[in-house]
Amino acid sequence: MRQSSLVVVANRLPIDDSTAPDGACEWRRRPGGLVSALHSPLRQTPATWVGWVGGTGPAPALPDVDGVRMRTVPLTADDLRDHYEGFANATLWPLYHDAVEQPEHHRRWWEAYQRVNQRFAAAAAEVAEPGAVVWVQDYHLQLVPGLLRALRPDLRIGFFLHVAFPPPELFMQLPRRAELLRGMLGADLVGFQRAQAAHNFAQLADRVLGLPATDHRIAVDGRIVRIGSFPVSIDTAEMAALADRPDVADHASRLRRDLGSPEHVILSVDRMDYTKGIEQRLKAYSELIADGHVKVQDTVLVQVAVPSRERVGQYQILRKRVEREVGRINGEFGRVGEPAIHYLTQPFDRAELAALYRIADVMAVTPLRDGMNLVAKEYVAARVDDTGALLLSEFAGAAAELPQAYLVNPHDLEGLKQGLLAALRAQPDQVRARMREMRTHLHQHDIHAWARSYLAALDQDSALLSRLGTTR
Ligand code: ADP
Ligand code: G6P
Repeated sequence: MRQSSLVVVANRLPIDDSTAPDGACEWRRRPGGLVSALHSPLRQTPATWVGWVGGTGPAPALPDVDGVRMRTVPLTADDLRDHYEGFANATLWPLYHDAVEQPEHHRRWWEAYQRVNQRFAAAAAEVAEPGAVVWVQDYHLQLVPGLLRALRPDLRIGFFLHVAFPPPELFMQLPRRAELLRGMLGADLVGFQRAQAAHNFAQLADRVLGLPATDHRIAVDGRIVRIGSFPVSIDTAEMAALADRPDVADHASRLRRDLGSPEHVILSVDRMDYTKGIEQRLKAYSELIADGHVKVQDTVLVQVAVPSRERVGQYQILRKRVEREVGRINGEFGRVGEPAIHYLTQPFDRAELAALYRIADVMAVTPLRDGMNLVAKEYVAARVDDTGALLLSEFAGAAAELPQAYLVNPHDLEGLKQGLLAALRAQPDQVRARMREMRTHLHQHDIHAWARSYLAALDQDSALLSRLGTTR
């Protein structure tokens, strides 16, 4: 087994086995923030990515992807049900997102979570060279830092949580709260999207484990674990270059024509997830049409909602409700050849997404809670001519960095409607000024800056940093 000096451990590998229309198996990049974030900085770095490739059964051996070695971890059908769909996505995911859906607790899920975390830790231990940096990602693997430290005390271990981390009152509901905190504290550096999350974590370390903690450091077992916020970002230059490509511009013009050359295009791009506020957004839009503030003849909404975690009950219910509502709105307000909502559930490649971003006069990103939301940042990066208004939820991590967006509280239906109208009716010079500031911010705070700042904090002497610096 070849070993690496940098190992990323994430539930997902950056690829997925999908079935092509002709029935053949094809590997492609999956929709989702974590994969989008890590793909760019790791490209061409001699790293190994440890993860699951989807499905059950033995783990296939995979070729390198963009110079990164793939080390697959298998999940059995029971692991899939109890670890991925259960503890990760029906206990932790809803709890970490303000419990907007009720988290479920089952002892069997916890056993699977421990078992699968152990398997990931063992795989990481196997592929890490002596003294390597191992960077563990996200809520599926919170026990891995502790388990890995026990196996390989020589490693530098980082943990980064891509999703929101809840206030102590919510986290305290978890029957295994102490074990989860201890697992994360196996790392040398625990990173979050927001400073508030690091504060929540420090409070919990004190309250649940009785550890001396500040918002920057926690003392545990004679070690210091550093904590902090590292807002994740995107490959801004790559998205801008893509959006600027002549073929993408042509595709965008065709798309706009296909939509009937409306005066206004509103776009939303989400995984089909109850945290994304899709139902609230549809309600706001349909009320604006019903009130006569928005006319279907000159305004269209394009809602892309790619199905996600499809066997989890709450996701199945959401999809049914969204599709019923889209059908109702189109039935009530659409005309022949002129639907009120263009609803798409397909995954798109990056160029297609860039073309969609290019045609969106208003991008509506209104999650009820979101660790960051990379779609909002991708949209800004794609607006190379500085046009376009971003309607953004206050409850997305991105709102802290993009105050020039039209900020809304998605729980407030009236506020959501007013925000959408304000974005639709904004003066072009105002829109341009706001967009320009947001683009400048994202060029300075891109994904490479994020990876560098995290790894610098994790391992100041590391030679990895200089290598990451050359991947741009
Ligand atoms: P989350 O992490 O909850 O999925 P983010 O907005 O942070 O939300 O990240 C979603 C990522 O998935 C973005 O990079 C976005 O471009 C990508 N994505 C979303 N929908 C699609 C789709 N239909 N096809 C391809 N990629 C998608
Ligand atoms: C969010 C999570 C990621 C996850 C992604 C897609 O971005 O933070 O860890 O990979 O959603 O979800 P999925 O369940 O398809 O991996």
